[in-house]
Amino acid sequence: MRFLPEHRSPRVAVVGFGYVGCCLGVALAENGITVVGIENDPALVARLRAGQCPVPEPGVTEALARLAGSPDLSFTTDYDGLLDADVVVITVGTPVDEHGSLMTEQLERVCEQVAPRLRPGRLVIVKSTVVPGTTRTLVAPLLEHGGLTQERDFGLVCCPERLAEGEALAQIGELPVVVGGSGPEGVAAAARFWERVLSVPTRVLPSSDAAETVKLATNWWIDANVAMANELAQFCAAFDIDVTDVIGASNSLPKGAGNVNILQPGIGVGGACLTKDPWMAWRAAMDRGVRLRTIDTARRVNDGMPAYTAEMILEELVKLGRDPAAAEIAVLGVAFKGGTGDLRNTPVKEVVGHLRGAGARVRMYDPLVDPDRMRAEMGATVADSLDDAVRGTDAVALLAGHPQFRDVPPERLRDLVPAPALVFDGRSYFTAEEIARLRELGFHYRGVGR
Ligand SMILES: NC(=O)c1ccc[n+]([C@@H]2O[C@H](COP(=O)([O-])OP(=O)(O)OC[C@H]3O[C@@H](n4cnc5c(N)ncnc54)[C@H](O)[C@@H]3O)[C@@H](O)[C@H]2O)c1
Repeated sequence: MRFLPEHRSPRVAVVGFGYVGCCLGVALAENGITVVGIENDPALVARLRAGQCPVPEPGVTEALARLAGSPDLSFTTDYDGLLDADVVVITVGTPVDEHGSLMTEQLERVCEQVAPRLRPGRLVIVKSTVVPGTTRTLVAPLLEHGGLTQERDFGLVCCPERLAEGEALAQIGELPVVVGGSGPEGVAAAARFWERVLSVPTRVLPSSDAAETVKLATNWWIDANVAMANELAQFCAAFDIDVTDVIGASNSLPKGAGNVNILQPGIGVGGACLTKDPWMAWRAAMDRGVRLRTIDTARRVNDGMPAYTAEMILEELVKLGRDPAAAEIAVLGVAFKGGTGDLRNTPVKEVVGHLRGAGARVRMYDPLVDPDRMRAEMGATVADSLDDAVRGTDAVALLAGHPQFRDVPPERLRDLVPAPALVFDGRSYFTAEEIARLRELGFHYRGVGR
């Protein structure tokens, strides 16, 4: 294989050791691959060297602690660290500006540093999320400034990162890797690389442009699907139908290559990707004169969910005869996604803002989020335990889908929360039987579409 060593494991440089870089670097090192993490934030490098995990991802903390000091995983701010690497994986951030346009500064700085250090026979893999054409028209020319030519001297491919937060380490050894490049040698080397280092299959596409589009298409689909579920929830609420019954039965219909697959409604969409990638696609299309209405609509529907959620909670309090301005509300779960402690763009922040804006006092509890960070970012009172959060409140709002809250029995709430109080279910935690039990115990139940 022209761009990979034949008789030894490839050495890998991961450039940008944020969320994606960290998960990937740790997974490769755990599989016995020598990895150097190149990161331009010296404070982050110091933390990583001390074995401290910068990302709230299950399993990564433990793996980093295990690997601390191991020659399999080292960190540096110095780009010379990639001189020995056979494969350079680029995982820097690709934010969008206020118009949805991809900001390529991080990617450009990386290419400028990698170009003069590139040696013949190397393979460069772009994992960052970008608009179609970025690898071909931006990354390739910047790397070729170093004097080498892609496909002849080095391989260049795009393999968009597709891991889901909260499940990244589990998925990394299973999920097929999408590969697209401008030439057969680079593509073949990349396919071989992923099969060798992670034993995962690859899905080869005819171009890097197509591979780049896969990532955008996937997040476009997820966001649009959730938006449909969120509007279906509002539809069901208007007819007093439980949306989870409708989704469960709808999803039993075979359609296309699988079944209908309506995702769960919720209190909004957060995180680093779903909030920006659809806009990145929308803007890139606009720049070519194509207006994508599903993206625009889905983004607005999902962005409207936190305000809708807060309205439902306040409305139910009024129905219970409570003055929202004097109410105490327990918010259970503040992360944007169940099973993670990630607060980036969490819709819970906006819900809490609306509740506090109406005068309510909010107590938050999230077992997966550092209390100091929660206090700093969310601005409300932080409770030490679930019991402390809910005790004596007028409403308990479950807003993040953590598995920890699945086994909160209605009886436990009854002992801590004076009925009649509201139980608001933002993530469809409760089964029909549990809802009936909550009502028997004197609670008022409301969920999104329930
Ligand atoms: N977070 C996710 O769940 C996820 C999932 C799939 C894809 N992606 C995509 O992967 C890419 C990375 O995402 P992330 O969440 O890891 O971003 P991040 O912001 O957490 O990490 C990027 C890291 O790159 C570092 N960096 C920036 N410029 C650098 C440079 N010139 N040299 C070295 N390091 C540099 C930053 O300091 C930061 O630590 C993005 O394109 C994102 O859209 C993210």
